[in-house]
Amino acid sequence: MKTGILGGTFNPIHNAHLSLGRAAKEQFGLDKLIFMPAARPAYKDPRQLVSFEDRMEMTRLAVDEVLGGEKNGYFLSDLEFKRPGNTYTCDTLAFMTQNEPETEFYFIIGGDSLMWIDEWKNPADIVNKCVLLVAERGGTGLAMLKEKADKLKKSINARIEFIEYPCNFVSSSDIRKHIRLGELKTAALPSSVIDYIDKKELYGCCKDGAYFTPEQIWGFTEDMRKTLSTFRFQHSLGVSYTAASLAMVYGVAVDKATAAGLLHDSAKEIPEDEQERLCDENGIKLTDCERRQKQLIHAKLGAFIAENKYGIKDKDFLNAIINHTVGRPAMTRLEQIIFCADFLEPQRAFTDMEPPLKEVRSLVFRDIDKATAQILEATLIFLGKKGREIDQATQRTYDYYKVFLENKDTVKP
Ligand SMILES: [Fe+2]
Ligand SMILES: [Fe+2]
Repeated sequence: MKTGILGGTFNPIHNAHLSLGRAAKEQFGLDKLIFMPAARPAYKDPRQLVSFEDRMEMTRLAVDEVLGGEKNGYFLSDLEFKRPGNTYTCDTLAFMTQNEPETEFYFIIGGDSLMWIDEWKNPADIVNKCVLLVAERGGTGLAMLKEKADKLKKSINARIEFIEYPCNFVSSSDIRKHIRLGELKTAALPSSVIDYIDKKELYGCCKDGAYFTPEQIWGFTEDMRKTLSTFRFQHSLGVSYTAASLAMVYGVAVDKATAAGLLHDSAKEIPEDEQERLCDENGIKLTDCERRQKQLIHAKLGAFIAENKYGIKDKDFLNAIINHTVGRPAMTRLEQIIFCADFLEPQRAFTDMEPPLKEVRSLVFRDIDKATAQILEATLIFLGKKGREIDQATQRTYDYYKVFLENKDTVKP
């Protein structure tokens, strides 16, 4: 029996995964091809993942629709979900070979993975248990991959073959971006997967393609112009267009970021005692620190205004306003965008921060996680210098991003 394994986050599974699976099965005469969604991939940001159940169901739908499912030799496995801890390839293969000692396994990987296979857990063990089938995906180039394969054949007796299939540049992260931008219907996905995402509103998709009409955005702008001081209105506009630019880079709905930027400080100029009173009256819970540091209260009250005055129910939107001052561990992209834009919009002038503000403004468009950590660090240093109380949330958020960045590039499959 010859069995191929195509693992992946499948977040979501798309047309290129399916054509790759078919090409591998046909080219190498495999009896079975198993699609194996990863439960907790060690090397991906878990915040971008939808649930395992959803990814499994989308994979089932796609494999049935496009490849004809089990009757054609295409199977699904939830093995990775059943095993505890991080899912490493060597452990999966150990389990498979132990259970089916007679089966010859073929493990499909992308060309990029082949290039850094030395950093995987137990690479020699992996190649001992399977033939690696490499899919060139246009990133590395076939010549370099073949050179790498030759080295691995010599150093660890790897058995490596290349899959011939129409390489294209579809990626799940691009698809997620398109979905968030309201382009689900034209994404490179089987129609059953499109329907599933639409029905369950996964990946921040919105049925009408936009959360806010231009008229609503204009209404928010006018309201802020009338109710805020010129300084605060200019700041809100700055946060709004900085957030809109970041939304384009990070695949967040631009209209949502624009509106959150406009409304984030809507409560800021209400007298602070009045803000506290309004929170108490409306059942908005304040921490002891917020009662002492009243300049923090406007964030929660701003979210309350967005929900009750403007009828915005979207939790992510409201959280982006709530968390714009001190952040929180594991912010969503929208929350991070508003948090960073609030600090970096062009009116801001923090002259003595390190690294300089202009460097963080540039960094935020390349690595928003690093920029988030730098903003938090600068805030903590600033508060320390001024002898002001540090909100526990700021410290917690900073600690989270520091550890997150340390782990981000080090853990490999
Ligand atoms: Fe604010
Ligand atoms: Fe602000």
